[in-house]
Amino acid sequence: MEKPKRENFSSGIAVFFATLGSALGLGNMWKFPYLVGNNGGGAFLFVYLICVFLLGIPVMISEFFIGRHTRKNAIGAFTELKANPFWKCIGYMGILSSLFIMFFYTDVAGWVYSYVFRGIKGDFNILSSLESTKAANTTQSIFLNTTGAGNSAINPMIWQLIVLVVVSLIIIAGVKKGIEKVTKTLLPILFILVIICDIRALTLQGSKEGLNFLFNPDFSKLNGSSIMTAMGLAFFKLSLGMGTMITYASYFTNDNNLMRTPIKVALSDIMVSLLAGIAIFPVVFSFGIKPEGSGMGLLFTTVPLIFMKLPFGNLLLIAFFFLTAIAATTALISLLEVPVAFLSEELKINRTKSVIIISSIVLIVGILTVHPGSLFGNAMIGSRNLFDFYDFLTSNILMPLGGFLIALFVGYVVNKNTLYQTLSNNGTLNIAVSFKLYQFVIRYITPILVLLVFLNSLQIITF
Ligand code: PHE
Repeated sequence: MEKPKRENFSSGIAVFFATLGSALGLGNMWKFPYLVGNNGGGAFLFVYLICVFLLGIPVMISEFFIGRHTRKNAIGAFTELKANPFWKCIGYMGILSSLFIMFFYTDVAGWVYSYVFRGIKGDFNILSSLESTKAANTTQSIFLNTTGAGNSAINPMIWQLIVLVVVSLIIIAGVKKGIEKVTKTLLPILFILVIICDIRALTLQGSKEGLNFLFNPDFSKLNGSSIMTAMGLAFFKLSLGMGTMITYASYFTNDNNLMRTPIKVALSDIMVSLLAGIAIFPVVFSFGIKPEGSGMGLLFTTVPLIFMKLPFGNLLLIAFFFLTAIAATTALISLLEVPVAFLSEELKINRTKSVIIISSIVLIVGILTVHPGSLFGNAMIGSRNLFDFYDFLTSNILMPLGGFLIALFVGYVVNKNTLYQTLSNNGTLNIAVSFKLYQFVIRYITPILVLLVFLNSLQIITF
């Protein structure tokens, strides 16, 4: 029987944009600034960078190897490698993670879409004429209405549905016509918009203080839990430890440099996070707001408040939320592709049906659990509501655990020669030195670091 043809990305540029599109997301514009804000600025940034280099990049190279070598989805890949069935748990955990992330991610993406719409409609215009406290109260109530904590629980559900329809249509269009086309078109726009926002932020009086906050490390603010958070952020940011990069790499071109692409993607991703931080913190400080207290709402309550006090504020606001919407959408397509590739390749359900099944699950569970006021919207697991629980479970447990297992698998189980052949594109790339370095890090540094951070957060050891 002839094998059905598998789609691939058409060029190296397409590979780069698709992968970067997965990495860029709410992580850059929403999580990164508020986590830096809550965990003491530059010191957190420093730990985060170490995590990206010692955990993120090596795990990404490993996932690229698994995906492109086997050209299979995150579960089929382990069958293809003739691995002990135990290792398939990486793929199954990945599918779980992608679902758990989508439950809350589609909700937040919905808030972002609705802010673009509200910006265009002019809902924020009144902020510019209000004095500070009134303006702060108004943004707060706009935010509460958006998330459903105010009087309308229907609103966030509609936006979540719109997000899911957009993302589903892109995935149904396929790898080339959907993922590749959308990421190649939208990411350059994202770059231009974030740079425009930065120029505005940097020309404000008092912008220096914001930059100091972002770049000056205060190590006294670091503790075990902030280190755990930095590690979780590195995995979440680079979409690692859960099969996304395995799945995407299964569509890569044969000549892609699997050791260089992760470095390019990680550096570009850090750059966008910093550019987002530079767009937000100087403005925050120039209006005398303390980022430490703003938490998760930093993006949604603080940004409109301060942008609207600037000349052309509304345009800037629309630009900022539009670029965030782009980032969220390109990340979501990579999340949805993981279970869809599994259903269509392993269970032979056609692509459109697979998309509809997964989107419906996300919509139903999302609607029932993440909106305040919905059936389980106020349920708690320990000290967390379900929204925070999904976030914590994926970023702080499942993804680092997945990364740990991937490191062990590629470092110790996979045949070294096969690994070398794939990473060097059958000997055409000269990677002798970088391969040695990678092997050392993936065998000894990555797993041990993840383990230490885990043990620390369970209070078994403390540092
Ligand atoms: N990397 C994305 C972000 O920062 C989130 C994501 C996680 C996407 C896991 C795919 C897989 O927003």
